[in-house]
Amino acid sequence: MTVAPAQETNTSNSYEIAYEPNLVPPLSLMATEGITVLEDWFRWGEEWSMILRMYGAMNINSSVLEIGCGLGRIAFPLRYLLLKGSYEGFDVVQEKIDFLARHFQPAHPNFRFTWANVRNAEYNPTGATMAADFRFPYPRSSFDLIFAASLFTHLLPDAIANYFQQAARVLKPGGRCVFSFFLLDYYRPGQPRPSVFGRSYFDFVHPYEGYDDTFASASADMPEQMTACRLSLIEQLAADAGLVLAQAPVPGLWSGSFDHWICAQDLVVLQKPKLLLES
Ligand SMILES: C[S@@+](CC[C@H](N)C(=O)[O-])C[C@H]1O[C@@H](n2cnc3c(N)ncnc32)[C@H](O)[C@@H]1O
Repeated sequence: MTVAPAQETNTSNSYEIAYEPNLVPPLSLMATEGITVLEDWFRWGEEWSMILRMYGAMNINSSVLEIGCGLGRIAFPLRYLLLKGSYEGFDVVQEKIDFLARHFQPAHPNFRFTWANVRNAEYNPTGATMAADFRFPYPRSSFDLIFAASLFTHLLPDAIANYFQQAARVLKPGGRCVFSFFLLDYYRPGQPRPSVFGRSYFDFVHPYEGYDDTFASASADMPEQMTACRLSLIEQLAADAGLVLAQAPVPGLWSGSFDHWICAQDLVVLQKPKLLLES
């Protein structure tokens, strides 16, 4: 039997397969999401791939939905984790989905990306459907895991309520959601915040009509630019949708309120209860 020397497997071809640089969007496209450093792109994706395994119980067979998939930053490391599973992602920016459909999808047919022409004042101001009315384009009980990274930080309460309802519908019983938020529970006005989070862009000082202290925005002119919720509101909207908190929230870096953190934003893990067998 002839065994190929290790170095022969390290051809430019195998490098292309392992890294697939053609799936990494050009910096000009990344810049539309405020990402200017390639290392930040990779770090965020790898961090989330771990978060989804730890808190979302993701495994090789999982069927996964990402809401607000952006440019595939998290799909990128998942392509070798979901080898026997599947991934669906949707986003409201057509340019991003076009890139993913052209480059990512053909290379990994178990990954599918869909454009949803949903209105978001910052990302898709001319969208045809309001987020509060959008029906996720998937059948009931399709997914083991649904996640959204830095999406709910750009949604208003009525949109969050609908997205929870939609998530509950397309999640399998026993399935999990891992959603990131800026939790007002951890926000201390005037307290120094680390890194970019020290900017006024993250000062959640504008309450939102009808929500007292449970929802706030950092911008009075465009509330969807950056939003924050109190956990009590999230729990209420989740309960209305038939979802429950699976564990205490996992604090993130942004608020500066914790010595130990994982992820930049706070993580909320929800679960759809398993169906109870009737006796
Ligand atoms: C900060 S980016 C995060 C992108 C991606 N989740 C990631 O981690 O790289 C927020 C994304 O949410 C998308 N988005 C905004 N409103 C949305 C909505 N109502 N439904 C789905 N996606 C939305 C934006 O187009 C944008 O791609």
